[in-house]
Amino acid sequence: MTQVIVTAPAKLNLALDVVGLLPNGYHELDMIMQAVALYERVTIKKAQEIQLFCQNPIVPLNEKNTAYKAAALFFAHTGIKGGAHITIEKNVPIQAGMAGGSADAAAVLVGLNALYGASLTMPQLCELGVQIGADVPFSLVGGTARVKGIGEKIEPLPTPNAAAWPVVVAMPGRGVSTPVAFARYDELGGDLHPDCAAIAHALCRGNMEEVCALMGNSLQATSSAENTEDICAVLRQNGALASMMTGSGAAVFGVFHDVERAKQAQQQLAKTYRFAAVTHFIDCGTKIAALKE
Ligand code: C5P
Repeated sequence: MTQVIVTAPAKLNLALDVVGLLPNGYHELDMIMQAVALYERVTIKKAQEIQLFCQNPIVPLNEKNTAYKAAALFFAHTGIKGGAHITIEKNVPIQAGMAGGSADAAAVLVGLNALYGASLTMPQLCELGVQIGADVPFSLVGGTARVKGIGEKIEPLPTPNAAAWPVVVAMPGRGVSTPVAFARYDELGGDLHPDCAAIAHALCRGNMEEVCALMGNSLQATSSAENTEDICAVLRQNGALASMMTGSGAAVFGVFHDVERAKQAQQQLAKTYRFAAVTHFIDCGTKIAALKE
């Protein structure tokens, strides 16, 4: 095999609770994470050195890129003397709180593992992944999960019926830097703490109305994201049962019970915002789409 194509999904936070501050400055979180059908598509070819390609001019094509970090860590960890030409098709908005950068890293780990026959297990890939970014383990595993620590403790949950609960995601003009979002929370504080245990129970019982009633994000009130409330208002006017910011922002999503109303909301949001999509929950994570000679 000389080439592999990998797809890695974006995530939404059905809940994000900041539960503590760790000595290294990272925040201890309790989250309900949900993979959705918006995918980064990454093509990896065997090569002598690590080299990145991406059509999107905003994406850095150097060692700061999570995909580059993943490749460097994979070769250092396995001792394999190799390289990779990595082409990233960016479909997930940047600085959105949807783990697009983590998805790229997850795709590279899964792709190189297959391409070079390293046989690393999913837990081993997750251990490498968290060294690149807090959301990489969930990007690898996907589906629906309660995620704790900084993102490394993953407890799988049943995925809600995708067809019954369509989702609309919209991204305002400007993204949000994750460290800035956490720094603002540290400075300004927040008293919203969604009950992730109750949401996990509701998911186990298949009670999506209850999940929607309990959803919340500790980082939303202090976020510098633009248009969060405006987007939430459009989502709710069109029938969303719940609407909120995902992760550290700036994307906002709504959960619907009617795909036609979801489409209406998406069409309305697409007139104002640079990204608006109807999507759905998925029960998987990063996957190999094709292996080629
Ligand atoms: O791990 P990742 O690169 O996604 O994190 C980016 C930044 O977000 C970290 O440097 C840290 O400032 C902040 N962060 C945090 N607590 C987390 C995850 C991220 O404070 N659990």
